[in-house]
Amino acid sequence: MSRATILCAIGTRPEAIKMAPVVRALQESTWARCRVLMTAQHRELVDPMLDFFAIAPNVDLDLMRPGQSLVDLTARMLPAVHSAIEGERPDLVIAQGDTTTVFVTALASFYARIPFAHVEAGLRTGRLDAPFPEEANRVLAGHLAALHFAPTADARANLLREGIADDWIIVTGNTVIDALFLAADRDEPIGVELDPTRRLVLITAHRRENFGAPIRGICRAVAELHDRFPDVQFLWPVHPNPSIGPVVRGAMAGLDRVLVCDPLPYGSFVAAMKRSTLILTDSGGVQEEAPALGKPVLVLRDESERPEAIASGVARLVGCEPLGIVAETARLLSDPVAYREMARGASPYGDGRAADRITAAIARHLDIPPALQAAG
Ligand code: UD1
Ligand code: UDP
Repeated sequence: MSRATILCAIGTRPEAIKMAPVVRALQESTWARCRVLMTAQHRELVDPMLDFFAIAPNVDLDLMRPGQSLVDLTARMLPAVHSAIEGERPDLVIAQGDTTTVFVTALASFYARIPFAHVEAGLRTGRLDAPFPEEANRVLAGHLAALHFAPTADARANLLREGIADDWIIVTGNTVIDALFLAADRDEPIGVELDPTRRLVLITAHRRENFGAPIRGICRAVAELHDRFPDVQFLWPVHPNPSIGPVVRGAMAGLDRVLVCDPLPYGSFVAAMKRSTLILTDSGGVQEEAPALGKPVLVLRDESERPEAIASGVARLVGCEPLGIVAETARLLSDPVAYREMARGASPYGDGRAADRITAAIARHLDIPPALQAAG
């Protein structure tokens, strides 16, 4: 019997990180022929991630354009992804998350009549336009999917509420924890010169809903914290989105303990998280990684589709108003008891074995004979 072909679609930085363990598990399996389709919705953000995980795409659509709009990107991506799927004719297509790449890949797979498997299925805020456009992307991708890899029991419950059949939902943990463990083991240097005597606050921000006034509010908060805490340095690897970079670089200019740098390769970013005292972020992935590293994470948003860490007290929503961000950060920097409560170390998002569960579930779904799965 020939191997089953699995096409893994990747477009952006977080997808490369979260799909890397799946690609690796499929490559190591005895029954799968793993192919990687890169939409390159991101370019310089995603290439170092592929290098880090030694993933060489089989097809690269090279779609990123500076300042791309949602409509333009989607319109260019659909025929390109559809042609790639038709060219490969895989037994199954798989993608992770809630980006344009994932929504388009789910739709193109559906049009090609090839089953689509959704990694990180079932995350919901319950508001179709928040976060925009990710909530709609994941709802739409979910309803086009044949298999749903829910990272947590809450995510599975969300899918059941939407009428997805239980048989097609598998709770796997989040593959980001698999990737994180791998990177943490490699113990890479941060690659940025930090003052070893100072505490570190790590910052990232990129979400569309934070463009404009919210990102300016985040910058004002960081400037105030810089002035209030002379023993703290701030590291801000800035996302290349043109709505973020110039604002952050402009607002942070002249603050001597705020280091604004280009995005860090994954190994360096994980090292920076490990070195940090706490993290301010609007990132989905960082919300999942920080608790696993025992780092308090203050979420620069008003809502989250990742309620587990908030419920267990290791993450907190602080919004984008300077008042809230400064108050919560200052509390953690000044009150050791409050800090310890949030720095407990918890891993509500997985145990590092999600990719193995995903691979095994795909084999079951494709009726790969157990003898073939065990061979090798
Ligand atoms: C995208 C996803 C978002 C995800 C984020 C992860 C959509 C609609 N948005 O947002 O869900 O959380 O990625 O980072 O799918 N750019 C570069 N180089 C890069 C990447 C981006 O220059 O490597 C710049 C380009 O000008 C590009 C712009 O950023 O046009 C926006 O990129 P895009 O992928 O459309 O949106 P993100 O904000 O990155
Ligand atoms: N990340 C990285 N380098 C950076 C900033 C983030 O490697 O300079 C990683 C981070 O560890 C996480 C992922 O990128 O795994 C999150 O990506 P992003 O915040 O762009 O997207 P989101 O998770 O919000 O979709």
